[in-house]
Amino acid sequence: MFPFDEQAIGRHQRGEQSVLPTTHPSEQSAGLFALGAPVTHWAVKATQSVSYEIQLCDDVFALDNLTLLEDVTPAGGRPRRLLVVDANVDRLYGARIRAYLEHHDVIHRICVIDSGETAKAMDTTLRIIDALDDFGIDRRREPVIGVGGGVLLDMVGFACGMYRRATPYVRVPTTLIGLVDAAVGIKTGINNNGHKNRLGSYFAADRTLLDRTFLGTLPHRHVSNGLAEVLKIALIKDGRLFELFAQHAGQFVTTRMQHPADAATELLERAIQGMLEELQPNLWEKVLERVVDYGHTFSPTLEMHALPELLHGEAVSVDMALTTVLAERRGLLDAGQRREILAVMAALRLPTWHPLCTPDTLGRALRDTVRHRDGQQRLPLPIGIGSATFVNDVTDAELAEAARALAEARFEVTR
Ligand SMILES: NC(=O)c1ccc[n+]([C@@H]2O[C@H](COP(=O)([O-])OP(=O)(O)OC[C@H]3O[C@@H](n4cnc5c(N)ncnc54)[C@H](O)[C@@H]3O)[C@@H](O)[C@H]2O)c1
Ligand SMILES: [Zn+2]
Repeated sequence: MFPFDEQAIGRHQRGEQSVLPTTHPSEQSAGLFALGAPVTHWAVKATQSVSYEIQLCDDVFALDNLTLLEDVTPAGGRPRRLLVVDANVDRLYGARIRAYLEHHDVIHRICVIDSGETAKAMDTTLRIIDALDDFGIDRRREPVIGVGGGVLLDMVGFACGMYRRATPYVRVPTTLIGLVDAAVGIKTGINNNGHKNRLGSYFAADRTLLDRTFLGTLPHRHVSNGLAEVLKIALIKDGRLFELFAQHAGQFVTTRMQHPADAATELLERAIQGMLEELQPNLWEKVLERVVDYGHTFSPTLEMHALPELLHGEAVSVDMALTTVLAERRGLLDAGQRREILAVMAALRLPTWHPLCTPDTLGRALRDTVRHRDGQQRLPLPIGIGSATFVNDVTDAELAEAARALAEARFEVTR
């Protein structure tokens, strides 16, 4: 419905997109939108729908698995694909990927990209863009395929979003952070000028194929790193997910999520379902109270100050351990639940403490986060295991007490 007089419609486009000359409200109610009325400025409003698919798909590059190529096959012609692949993934899986493409007679080029956060930069992104140019990509038929961890996928998404303003792409994550986090939402990004993910965009991949078998070669530490983000979902919204951790945490790490297979699959499904339930209604993060920010209040400062000692998930784990104790001190969970949570973190080989957990650093970390949450703490805290609330009244003194209590509690677990 247009909020103005029918006579004025000749001045605007009908439909989803509209360009509305706006006038003073009293003029609107007086019906002064007729042709010839003075226009002071134009307000443009348009909406764009976002849709994408995520699917579990074991062994993406098995010769008889056509899922990756099912998007478009030209009538009578050979399919063409540009793949952008992380260097370590290429070393481990490159021969298999090439055999797959050759078996299916795909005209292809593989652009291999250096691994690591230092490569997650503009010059590498421009290399990807050059590869798109050189390949002469047909945007309607030839989605770019990104194969790698969160670093690679964030860069491929950013490059594709910029290339001719939107070039479709498919994500094949190969790390656990990629499977449960980086490849699930629509954010892309690169580091710039010393800041993490300072440049980026919201640009969804058409499809994401989640292949757990890649985790079979992932270093154990990176498995634990990804499981920290899954534990986050368990603590704030999924008690059953926590049960899976309580039963199998150690085995998930040692077998790199390959065994027990049923439990590992259920864990992935629940983690992704939980993540999407939170992301979908808030894809552009306009709402600042996000339970998925649990573990992400103090961790950005800890991670940055401890660099390169702590991986992201490890810093998140320290944050979750601290806020678990803080929640216990507020009576939101009991000592038994706190012990269970810290025991799972230990079984996952995740840290529950860091020397940077000083009152001074924690206070600064909280103030920094408040700046990013539009002036309020909006601190998610667990209620028991599997539910959460937000608080805005944490004091420096309370933080200092929680840090002291955590320093004692962690010995209960490791003893
Ligand atoms: N866009 C988002 O919403 C989002 C969400 C979470 C994280 N991220 C980003 O993701 C990045 C972290 O992702 P990550 O933890 O996957 O790191 P990563 O991409 O650097 O991968 C970690 C290491 O594992 C190697 N590797 C990848 N797959 C492998 C495999 N199957 N076997 C053996 N080695 C393998 C990589 O070469 C790298 O050395 C960060 O830059 C973060 O900002 C983005
Ligand atoms: Zn995170």
